[in-house]
Amino acid sequence: MALLAWGLALALLGGALGQGALAPAVPTAWGDRIYPQLGQAGLDVTHYDVALRVPQPGTRTLQAEVTLTVQATRPLPLLSLDYLGPAVQGVTWNGAAVRYERAAGKLLIRRALAPGTPARVTVRLAGPAGRVPDPDLPVDLGWQALPGQGTQPGVNFTFSEPDGTRAFLPVNDHPGDPAAFTLRVTVPRGVTAAASGRQTAVQDTPQGRTFTFEQREPIPTYALAVHVGPLERVDRPAVQVGGKVVALRDYFPPGTPVNIRAPYERTGEILRLLGEWFGPYPFATYGSAVVTPPLPALETATLSTMPVTSSNVRVIVHEAAHQWFGNSVPLGDWSDTWLNEGFATYAELLWAQAQGKEEARAVLQAWRDSVQNRPTRPLVARTPAELFDRSAYVRGALALHALRGAVGDGPFRAFLQTYARTRAARPTRTADLLALARTELGPRAEGVLRTWVESPSLPPLP
Ligand code: ARG
Ligand code: ZN
Repeated sequence: MALLAWGLALALLGGALGQGALAPAVPTAWGDRIYPQLGQAGLDVTHYDVALRVPQPGTRTLQAEVTLTVQATRPLPLLSLDYLGPAVQGVTWNGAAVRYERAAGKLLIRRALAPGTPARVTVRLAGPAGRVPDPDLPVDLGWQALPGQGTQPGVNFTFSEPDGTRAFLPVNDHPGDPAAFTLRVTVPRGVTAAASGRQTAVQDTPQGRTFTFEQREPIPTYALAVHVGPLERVDRPAVQVGGKVVALRDYFPPGTPVNIRAPYERTGEILRLLGEWFGPYPFATYGSAVVTPPLPALETATLSTMPVTSSNVRVIVHEAAHQWFGNSVPLGDWSDTWLNEGFATYAELLWAQAQGKEEARAVLQAWRDSVQNRPTRPLVARTPAELFDRSAYVRGALALHALRGAVGDGPFRAFLQTYARTRAARPTRTADLLALARTELGPRAEGVLRTWVESPSLPPLP
């Protein structure tokens, strides 16, 4: 059906649902302040089973059979998935073929979904990944491809925050609907696959080698990690983090020099320190996959994506902290990215303080230098360009430092742990953090935090 006709049909459905005659073209979207078109309100994807074939690593071509286990939290007239990926070859609903339409970044399946009756929807796709521009960098999000050199196989990996996963998989692409994932990645023999979660099997098949990963705890779609290439896997001794045993493994491209590898040897030590502040590590495994392009580091779940140029302890600490804040405690709205970036940046100070007074002073001084005499903004972002700006990171971290100063170390630590525990897998907004500050730490503490969140100018530095 033509785009216009779909817009009309959806607007009518919106009217029938009581959303008014002037409902937007996709009235069932999540309602995000920054990305109003993303996601479907009332849809809960509990699990994605992804059988992914990468026949030629380093190219944009992939094949996949994706089975979503979906349920409705309110009656839904249709299923509306975010999708800009390869050609769809077929869709089934509980095993029976169904019609589908692609329009305006959505894969639409006109089947009603009633609360209490889950369905399994399978999408088969093949071809080149789609393109989703980054909100501020000159790169495309989603499925990255680095051609091989000489006899060396090429590399692929995911780089999707905020909305790039839809460039290669049909997903409810909003962090407010985190889900579990099973990944079975088939690659040519001699090539390694890595992904979020624990590796549970490696099997040789006629098509190549299939690596299976289980990510049991729900994660936001943008945090899904998949890496394919001539990678070397390094296993490290497991660590206890806040009472939980965490298996550690990293992946390196061939020829990664020792000075780039060295900081990753401290991952266990870093997790233990963060666990003392944040409580039990939320997942079963952790580590990093090192990549060569000059991208920012990304906290992909259980397997952070670490450019060679970001391979230092400060960034490792930052991405590790995101496993609690962002991956386990998911955003309820993209305007609240400071809840991810402010907490992860704050972890850099917690680490520095554990190294000594000099290190801690240096981090605080760097934060002051970065915000003094430069404009900052209230912490809830208003535009895509603000999602990962200085205010999200540095003013966000300073807001937490001000809160800590107001209540003292013990209550602050207890507060961080309560926040991490009670908000796990629950879409979280700035108002939720403020409400928790009020109940756990009192109205005065909440007032301090609120000033840092809302003030048009930078409050006096703590
Ligand atoms: N969340 C990442 C980090 O700070 C940063 C992602 C930046 N992304 C972007 N699209 N500009 O760890
Ligand atoms: Zn970050």
